[in-house]
Amino acid sequence: MNPFLNELCDGKKMVDKVFKAAVAANEAKVKYGDEVVNATLGTLFDEDGVFVAFDSVWKTYETIDKIQKAKYASSIQGNPEFNAAIYDWLFGKLDKEIQCEIIATPGGAGAISSTMKNILSPGETVIKPSLGWGPYKTMAKECFLKLTDYNMFKDNHFDIVDFKTTLTKVMNEQGKVLVIINDPCHNPTGYTLSGNEWDQIIEFVNELSIQGPVIILNDIAYVDYTNQGDIWKQHFKKYNDLSNNVMVVVAFSCSKTLTAYGARVGAQIVITKDKEQLEAFKNAAIYSARSIWSTVNNSAMKLFSTIISNETLREPYIAEKQQYIDLLRERANIFVSEAKENNLEIFPHVEGFFVTIKVIDNKEKEALNLKLQKNNIFTVEVDGGLRVAICSVSKRKLKGLAKRIKEIM
Ligand SMILES: Cc1ncc(COP(=O)(O)O)c(C=O)c1O
Repeated sequence: MNPFLNELCDGKKMVDKVFKAAVAANEAKVKYGDEVVNATLGTLFDEDGVFVAFDSVWKTYETIDKIQKAKYASSIQGNPEFNAAIYDWLFGKLDKEIQCEIIATPGGAGAISSTMKNILSPGETVIKPSLGWGPYKTMAKECFLKLTDYNMFKDNHFDIVDFKTTLTKVMNEQGKVLVIINDPCHNPTGYTLSGNEWDQIIEFVNELSIQGPVIILNDIAYVDYTNQGDIWKQHFKKYNDLSNNVMVVVAFSCSKTLTAYGARVGAQIVITKDKEQLEAFKNAAIYSARSIWSTVNNSAMKLFSTIISNETLREPYIAEKQQYIDLLRERANIFVSEAKENNLEIFPHVEGFFVTIKVIDNKEKEALNLKLQKNNIFTVEVDGGLRVAICSVSKRKLKGLAKRIKEIM
């Protein structure tokens, strides 16, 4: 008998390791209470274990008119004030203008999957980091793409050699490269590339683009949590040095930036010197938007533009967010320093929401995760290790955690 599903989609089944681990942690919490360490969720929780929804954001939301909330967005590309606010938020402090197009998307996820869909043809290969956000894989599959990895680290730094080798190989095979770089505050390690590492990447892709188009998908989901603050955004200046045959699609997300995960707002910011190709990409992205999700959440776009364009709202928001950047740094200091003291091997961490314990062997990783769960410690299995979401664990619970994990190991 013929199945209802088409043959390309038959067998698709979502297994979300984060949600699965979170369910197990919640069940344990019901039984064992406060002794449970739930380090599974990639959302901010305060020191009392309460989900963080910034007052400065959600009080402003209450001031938005109900008609604005009810209405469709004013444009498929995104409300003009929203797109202007994104430009200002990301590039406003640069001394040179960036030639780009901005298309609103449902979160960073919408920006990433729409880029995969429009850049590569089915059967082609997208390149991702060896340690990376799980949905890159499902998105690639959804777009009928193959995946290959560049190795993230060598000697505790970005493995630029493998990056070059992998991109060159794919360029030789398919005459075009789409590569995902999740920076700053990489999920799941918390690594942030240095300026020098980025310079090497840009110099290399410029050279490689002589052979064919190179598209960098810069996933900046955690950009607003770097310890460098706005200084990090000077990085975008480097995108003015791209050769004509290189395009960058920056995937921006309001999920973390505003603690507005459920509001589903983000954007593709497309940068290239080639005006014709920029226009073509924009048109394709708008076409995909209309065909897949139509328009983006109107009130959440309004929320972002209202806060960003009004200093009396923006400054308290920045101050509130800064408290959590500081808190993340304190939490990381506890876990990372104790990991070092106890010889618990972790991947290089600079900042952000996560730290990852290195366990390369999959069987060992699964076994360790089970043992940890039996001891009421809940982490998420990721490629190469176990992710500890320091964004959701209090300092009190992080103290001594590395030692406990090492002992259980
Ligand atoms: C690395 C990374 N990229 C992108 C996203 C996109 O999130 P959203 O679609 O909620 O904006 C996330 C969210 O967890 C993430 O961790």
